[in-house]
Amino acid sequence: MLKKLALFAVVLCLTLGVSLAQAAPDPLFNWAKTPTTLTFYGQSTFVLTHGETRLIIDPWLTGNPWKVASADDIDVQYILVSHAHGDHIGDAAGIAKRTGAKVISTSEITRMLAGQGVTNLHPMSIGGKWNFEFGWVKMTNAIHGSGVAGGQAAGFIINFYGKVIYFAGDTALFGDMAYIGKANLDYALLPIGDNYTMGPEDATEAVGLLKPKKVIPIHYNTNPLTKQNPQDFKKMVESRYNIPVLIMNPGASITL
Ligand code: NI
Ligand code: MN
Repeated sequence: MLKKLALFAVVLCLTLGVSLAQAAPDPLFNWAKTPTTLTFYGQSTFVLTHGETRLIIDPWLTGNPWKVASADDIDVQYILVSHAHGDHIGDAAGIAKRTGAKVISTSEITRMLAGQGVTNLHPMSIGGKWNFEFGWVKMTNAIHGSGVAGGQAAGFIINFYGKVIYFAGDTALFGDMAYIGKANLDYALLPIGDNYTMGPEDATEAVGLLKPKKVIPIHYNTNPLTKQNPQDFKKMVESRYNIPVLIMNPGASITL
């Protein structure tokens, strides 16, 4: 009888053990299986998606001549704002108030948004890094007007579920991009419009300093002063470096 009970206990343990092992989730496997995507909305507006997690950068939908989406269509948990010019801060306050998304930006911009009734705010300053549920954000320098009193324009290095993206914001070329490149960038999102930011030649120099795996040109063909042919930029970069340039049409998505 005891022997039978012992055998029963062993079988029960083995069965339970096996079924528990099968039922146990494998977070690493699922994490790797879930695609991370990037959608372009024209100018400097991007949405990063991984499963249910969505982050928008410089949400300019209202007045964006590409008219890919309305601000009401945007459903995100995070909003990054590089500076307070209208084509970058754009619909940030409206989307934040409707969705409750956390706005990550400079202290001056988060203070300004607090005055507009936005409550979920994460202020940062240039050089600072912070861990979020999706990865981390490091705020970088950008040489450009801030659009808000006392503030500085910024760029971001974003680690979003393991993909490292440098979003330059609006900026001139600067030599410290070589240090930003030490983050082992998967993607560099660089303005090429000229007049307000780097033009194609300076953006090509920037690629040489940043050495990302891939480049996406941004901030062009939204107004007569930023008219560019991105194919010229692509040819310049690809003939000088072994780094592919992806030209994204507004509304297009890629898997990172
Ligand atoms: Ni600007
Ligand atoms: Mn701009």
